[in-house]
Amino acid sequence: MLVMGVESSAHTFGVGIADNGRVLANEKMMYDVGSRGMIPSKVAETHVKNAGTVIRMALEKARVKITEIEGVGYTKGPGIGACLQVGQLAAKTISNGLGIGIVPVNHAVAHVEITKHEAKLRDPIALYVSGGNSQILKLAGNPFRHYQILGETFDVGVGNMLDAFAREIKLTPAWGSTVAKLAAKGSYIEMPYTVKGMDFAFTGLLTYASSLAGKENDEDLCYSIQETSFAMLCEATERALLLTNRDELEVCGGVAQSVRLQEMLRSICKEHGMRFGVAKNEYNADNGGMIAYVAERMLEHGHSEPLARCGIQQRYRIDKAIVV
Ligand code: FE2
Repeated sequence: MLVMGVESSAHTFGVGIADNGRVLANEKMMYDVGSRGMIPSKVAETHVKNAGTVIRMALEKARVKITEIEGVGYTKGPGIGACLQVGQLAAKTISNGLGIGIVPVNHAVAHVEITKHEAKLRDPIALYVSGGNSQILKLAGNPFRHYQILGETFDVGVGNMLDAFAREIKLTPAWGSTVAKLAAKGSYIEMPYTVKGMDFAFTGLLTYASSLAGKENDEDLCYSIQETSFAMLCEATERALLLTNRDELEVCGGVAQSVRLQEMLRSICKEHGMRFGVAKNEYNADNGGMIAYVAERMLEHGHSEPLARCGIQQRYRIDKAIVV
């Protein structure tokens, strides 16, 4: 079934096209976050400007005509309201214009599912780490098939925490990647470490590291905040793996692009003889391909929604979304 997926939860307007479980196109245009961060109305305006172009780019890449599209999906949430609205309206316009089915998709489910597919995993524990989210997940069957949250951040997502620190030391924030560059040349300074079972918290670490800005060198601070936060994620994830008796782990979301985090998780899996999987970076960044992939499966399982019931939900938690 040829399905288009539209993603617009934050700074990326992405359009993907999937057919028979394969992503044929995954195109995007992004709002330049720069040092100002995201101003919702400005990001939404940029998405409106880019929407038509990105849809055309995806159709060209997949070599299909818009009239051949048989279904459409869009990100319902979680995300920024003004941004989510643009993708929702684009998808509704396509559904209405072509008379085809439409389905709202949970952004986090899409990251987990596309990674599971790409890495050929069966039933992994998932560490979902992005700007706004940090969660440890497992698929559960009751009362409906959904991702159960085993552990999560008590305060901010690890990506936003690293970016807040990047701004403190006048780096351009980019989901932790600018901190990672300096970290490569740093040495360790002991920092606050907060793990409670399978949950964790990052603000104490951020406050402490920020208080040392200008007093210690930037490389050491970047290395220490990155190592400490990733070690916290790894400790909680390892506990989840052992408590649930799972033998597969995936990492997904924007921060999953971190080579250092991948390396740390891979070494845990190696130690316990478990499989480790991560998708290519285009699926860890926000993208329409993963939305198209999940939307196709949902539509094939009869989960299309009447247009009037298609909305957005800024705090659409993963455990409230049906997984087919
Ligand atoms: Fe994302």
